[in-house]
Amino acid sequence: MKIFLCVDAAQATALAGAQVQQQIMRKPESVLGFATGGTMEALYAELIRLHRHQALSFAGVRSFNLDEYLGLSGTHSHSYSHYMHQHLFDHVNIQPQHIHLLQGDAADPVVEAQAYEQRIQSVDGIDLQLLGLGENGHIGFNEPSSSLASRTRVKRLAPDTLAANQRYFSADISQPTHALTMGIGTIMDARQVVMLALGTKKADAVAHMIEGPISARWPASVLQMHPQTTVILDAPAAQHLACRDYYTAVHPMGLVE
Ligand code: GLP
Repeated sequence: MKIFLCVDAAQATALAGAQVQQQIMRKPESVLGFATGGTMEALYAELIRLHRHQALSFAGVRSFNLDEYLGLSGTHSHSYSHYMHQHLFDHVNIQPQHIHLLQGDAADPVVEAQAYEQRIQSVDGIDLQLLGLGENGHIGFNEPSSSLASRTRVKRLAPDTLAANQRYFSADISQPTHALTMGIGTIMDARQVVMLALGTKKADAVAHMIEGPISARWPASVLQMHPQTTVILDAPAAQHLACRDYYTAVHPMGLVE
């Protein structure tokens, strides 16, 4: 695990953007795994900036999103599909036929999940998977107790996840209780993982992920077994890490190999 401790959220976000930029420059036809959530909004704004001002091209990029709320159509204002168009796809030159999103309102979610796994395999897997981190340690919507070998499937959302994401829903739009999500095994198959976690609310989960035992109680801890994971943190998210000085010495300001 590479651990980049950044001074603030802006530096961390820029660093995560640079990881994506380098991947696309290395391989213009990269398969990218995209995440959603508040943390990713600034990262997508950074990718749009790189597209506009540094000619970063998404023309060859193929994308797979991590998860989608069960029951919401792709055009629903609270779907992750809508989120992705609003925050990234509508602003860069990604080809519509290269975008892969889980269909939350699929007639048969089990079939949808299996077909998604096959679509990932058919493009030879994900080159770089972006991840955010749930306050309870989830990745995608793989809640505590998720099998560390799980594949794409339906998951019931944990009470703390529902509480954390409640802010996005209003009285007239009820919050879905289930989601379709890539499994932990699916995520672990990605050749590279870049995790961005910011703020005090993530500090406990970050400490369990990096320094705790590998456990389904904190699903992100499985990333300790991934050979190419980069975790990018701001100071508040890193505050409970015991070995902060060591991580900083290895990657000063996250800039040195
Ligand atoms: C949701 C998503 C996760 C994301 C998490 C963190 O639960 N399913 O993929 O990592 O939110 O979101 P935020 O960045 O808003 O804290």
